[in-house]
Amino acid sequence: MRVLILGADGYLGWPTALRFSVRGDDVLALDSGVKRRWEQEVGALPLFPTLDFRERAARWRDAGGAPVETVVCDLCDYPALAQVLRRWRPDAIVHFAEQPSAPFSMMSVERAVLTQTNNLVGTLNLLWGMREACPQAHLIKLGTMGQYGTPNIDIEEGFIDIEHKGRRDRLPFPSQPGSFYHLSKVHDSHNMRFACAAWGLAATDLNQGVVYGIETVETGPESEQGGSFHYDAIFGTALNRFCVQAAAESPLTIYGAGAQKRGFINICDVLDCIEIAARHPARPGEYRVFNQFTQVFSIAELADLVADSAGRLGLRTTTERLANPRSEAAEHYYNPVADGLKALGLTPRLLTPEFVETMLRAIAPHASQIDLSTIRPATRWR
Ligand SMILES: NC(=O)c1ccc[n+]([C@@H]2O[C@H](COP(=O)([O-])OP(=O)(O)OC[C@H]3O[C@@H](n4cnc5c(N)ncnc54)[C@H](O)[C@@H]3O)[C@@H](O)[C@H]2O)c1
Repeated sequence: MRVLILGADGYLGWPTALRFSVRGDDVLALDSGVKRRWEQEVGALPLFPTLDFRERAARWRDAGGAPVETVVCDLCDYPALAQVLRRWRPDAIVHFAEQPSAPFSMMSVERAVLTQTNNLVGTLNLLWGMREACPQAHLIKLGTMGQYGTPNIDIEEGFIDIEHKGRRDRLPFPSQPGSFYHLSKVHDSHNMRFACAAWGLAATDLNQGVVYGIETVETGPESEQGGSFHYDAIFGTALNRFCVQAAAESPLTIYGAGAQKRGFINICDVLDCIEIAARHPARPGEYRVFNQFTQVFSIAELADLVADSAGRLGLRTTTERLANPRSEAAEHYYNPVADGLKALGLTPRLLTPEFVETMLRAIAPHASQIDLSTIRPATRWR
């Protein structure tokens, strides 16, 4: 396949580019580099120094990997994007290229507007560009489980069969997102669904849970091919953050009582899911949704797991409850469905204490670089 990876400089984008390269697909990796600017602005840098994706591509080739072509392009620049699509004519487009942080989107009016402008305009440009240049391509777009919120019923995969006043229909599952970032994903989903119906495009929306993990089979451990690993309160995700706090023997900071539940997924499973979606594309005109997570944990359960694993390595770990900076239900029902990707072949890697130990061991040599001041949440929803 000819695969176009959008957002290839990021945590998930680069490992995904390598996965397709290893499989023998032709890969074009695109990024604008904007995330590095946002990191500087908010003072939150990844734990491991991360080479620019063009340098990573050069070193990958020098080490004997298949060439990964790179291009610097902003999805919000329609003429530039359309030119890339016309030239590359992809079979599959994997779209990671968005502002990915809820707290970032809640910091100020400027950052809320930036988040929605960047994410919505980028995806809208992409849909129009596909229509013009490659209408046969399959779009695989990263959404989030946070689009659904925490309704008091089971969460289906994108759609729900409902009966209303004696009539039945299959409609998009209700969205109750919890930040302007999550709202940008909801708006993207509506634009994608409409573009598929109106123009016959094929799209898969992957409503992804919270990702954890450092390395993948393709990047290998401690390598210059690693993606951008964040642990701060803005771009970091829960398990990654707890592991870094444990490695620094700093208290694991739990928001509220920690009873809020979320779906989680190993970074290696993310790559499997994306590859599965690409090898089993949506049909022309089809907009489909998969929920992309493998396990549900409460935040307190995750903290306990990390504390236990850290204890086995001789690290002294405590927990600290912070007033929840977010507006979210403290206790709630949570039973989301995630059958579609498993039906197509996903075999989940479950989160074990041994896996957490491998993360702690990978972080340990970098403990002196951990900036604990970036971990406490500075952004409050109210
Ligand atoms: N990491 C997670 O836990 C998680 C969970 C759910 C959903 N997601 C989604 O998955 C995707 C990838 O997440 P990530 O953690 O790799 O994020 P990331 O920030 O590490 O990577 C995103 C990349 O996209 C680039 N980008 C952003 N806007 C762009 C634009 N307009 N044009 C070109 N490039 C642009 C950035 O420079 C960055 O390198 C995001 O859409 C995110 O919302 C991530």
